[in-house]
Amino acid sequence: MRLLALAKINLGLEVLGQRRDGYHELRTLFQSISLADEIEITERTDGRIYVSGDDPSISWGEDNLIFQAALKMQKMSTSTRGVEVRVKKRIPPGSGLGGGSSDAAVILMALNLLWKLRLPLEELTRIGQQLGADVPYFFHGGLCLGEGRGDFLQPLPDMAERAVLLVLPRWTISTRWVFQHLVVTLTSAAKVSKINQFLKDNNLAVLANELEETVFSRYPQLRKIKEAISETEAELSSMSGSGSVIYGLFRDKKTAAEVGQKIGQSFPEVTVKVVRTVNRFHYWQIVGVGV
Ligand code: C5P
Repeated sequence: MRLLALAKINLGLEVLGQRRDGYHELRTLFQSISLADEIEITERTDGRIYVSGDDPSISWGEDNLIFQAALKMQKMSTSTRGVEVRVKKRIPPGSGLGGGSSDAAVILMALNLLWKLRLPLEELTRIGQQLGADVPYFFHGGLCLGEGRGDFLQPLPDMAERAVLLVLPRWTISTRWVFQHLVVTLTSAAKVSKINQFLKDNNLAVLANELEETVFSRYPQLRKIKEAISETEAELSSMSGSGSVIYGLFRDKKTAAEVGQKIGQSFPEVTVKVVRTVNRFHYWQIVGVGV
């Protein structure tokens, strides 16, 4: 079975407060984009789980989210079914694009089918939540409002397709580190939600990622990249999730590519890529397996 696990970007991210479980209460919009890991799944009859991939910077052992996902599904199965998973990693890890979470979600859906477990969406969501706060989003795709830890999801009508310029620095950022060093003031009750404002008037420019200040104070280069994109025709220039990617949303691909070329020249230590937003219908066509 060959499948694709698509990346996401966050269109705005608001931190509403700290929870008793150590997590933070968030409000964010998730949007699928056309950058995907390629996953090949082969059933094994010996009950073993093997995971491998072409990116040596990633641990493909038992701590990999794919292995953890397969293990959880195996525990739901009465027979001793095994699986071999091979990954061509195209979504840079530690970049805020949700690659590891998307891989895990696709594995849960694929094994549900392959091992004929017939678990409903609610059950896959429960398992996904245990693996990571971003995992449940990938059971929906398209544009979704994420609340709670980001794992309480409301699918929204898709917006018109945009070109997405991704600017990827060479370093990765730990989500845990960002939340531990938050510099946002949690005066959430009084805050007017920019996400709600966007949902009313569709003006992308109002959206803001409240994790940016924490990340930019440690990596000032990212602020400069964001500012450089803001000075162009981009409708929104932002960090995704807890970084390290900075993206720009554009009406057309040509402009995004031109801006990408300039950014690549000004910041030689980054990689630039132009992709597009993916609506919910196409998300399911591309992923190749559903709930
Ligand atoms: O759920 P995930 O493993 O992706 O989260 C990584 C870390 O990010 C968590 O251990 C937690 O420290 C932090 N986090 C948070 N609030 C969220 C999501 C993540 O504090 N809503």
